[in-house]
Amino acid sequence: MPKSIFPDMRMRRMRVTASRRRLFDDPMPGPGKCIWPVFVRSGRNIREPIDALPGQFRYSVDTLLKDLEQPVRDGIGAVLLFGVADVSRKSGAGSEAWRDGAPVQRAIKAIKTTYPDLVVFSDVCLCAYTRHGHCGPLRRDGQVDNDAACDALAKVAVSHAAAGADVVAPSAMMDGQVLTLRRALEAEGFQDVLLMSYSTKFASSLYGPFRDAGQSVPEHGDRRGYQASYGDIRGALRESEMDEAEGADILMVKPALWYLDVIARLRERTDLPIAAYQVSGEYSMQIAAAERGIGDLHDMIRESLTAIRRAGADLIISYWTPRYREFMIV
Ligand code: PBG
Ligand code: ZN
Repeated sequence: MPKSIFPDMRMRRMRVTASRRRLFDDPMPGPGKCIWPVFVRSGRNIREPIDALPGQFRYSVDTLLKDLEQPVRDGIGAVLLFGVADVSRKSGAGSEAWRDGAPVQRAIKAIKTTYPDLVVFSDVCLCAYTRHGHCGPLRRDGQVDNDAACDALAKVAVSHAAAGADVVAPSAMMDGQVLTLRRALEAEGFQDVLLMSYSTKFASSLYGPFRDAGQSVPEHGDRRGYQASYGDIRGALRESEMDEAEGADILMVKPALWYLDVIARLRERTDLPIAAYQVSGEYSMQIAAAERGIGDLHDMIRESLTAIRRAGADLIISYWTPRYREFMIV
C-alpha cells in the first residue's frame, strides 16, 4: 500500500510542467554513451548509400573521416567499425579479415591519427569475408567449425589491436571465442585492449538491413546453429555469464528493444558494463513507421533510447548516434 493515497497524494503535480519533469526524470543517455556502427570499404571518395538503412553509407576511409568530424565535435562515445569486403577478396577461410592493409585496419589507423580521443571499437567476425557468408570456416558437413573459427577470430582481433583499436568486439557467437581472443591479445602484448563480447546475440529477424549493408547474407542455411535462441532466456543469460568468466570487459545484448527483459535480468547478475545494440531492423522500422505517419521519428528515437538505458544498458550502439544533435539535444 502507498503511504498516502488520493486526495492527499496526486501524482500529476510531479509532472505537470516541463521544468518539474526535468527535475524528476532521469536524463536522456548523452552522446558520450552512444556508439555509431559504421561500414568501411575499399576505394577513395566513396560514400555509397545503403538502401535498407536510409541515412547510412558504405564509406571509403577518406569520406568516413569527413563524416566523423561533426559527430566527434558533438562528443559521441565511440565508433564500431564493420568491414565490407570486395567480392574478389572473399574466400573459404575469410583471410581478408586479418589482412593488415584491409579497409577496417586502415580505418582504425586513420581514425586514431585524425581523432586520437575517439574510442574505436572493431567488430570481429568472418561473415563479411567468407564466400559462404557464415561467421567461421565450414566443416565438411556444412556446420561452422567452432574451434577453427576461434583461432581465425583471434588473428582478426590481433590485427585490429595492432592497428590501434581500443576495443575488439567478437560477434561470431562461437564457444570459447572470448577466452581465445583474450589469450591471443595477452600473448601479443595488447594488455590494454578492451574486449566487448556480443555475449547474448540472438538469432534475430531484425538483422536484414545489416546483411544488405555488409553484403554478408549466408549463402545457405541461417545462423540459428550458433546465435542464441530467443526462446531460451536462461541459456542466453548463462552465455553472457560465461563470457564474463572468459575475460570479457563489456557484455552486450542484441537486439535491444525486443530484449529489454534480458538487459534488465543481466543487469542484476553482472557488474560489468552492458552494451545494448539497437540493430539495423530496429532503426529501419522506426524510419518506416515515421514515414507511414505512425509516430514522430524524433519522439520514437528518444523514447526507445531512454527505454534501453532504463532497462540497464550503460552503452547504446545505435545508427542514430551521428545524428544525435539533430534528434536528441532537447
Ligand atoms: C555479423 C553481425 C551481424 C550484425 C552485427 N554483426 C549480422 C548477423 O549476425 O547476421 C547485425 C547488426 C545489425 O543488424 O545492425 N556477425
Ligand atoms: Zn558474423
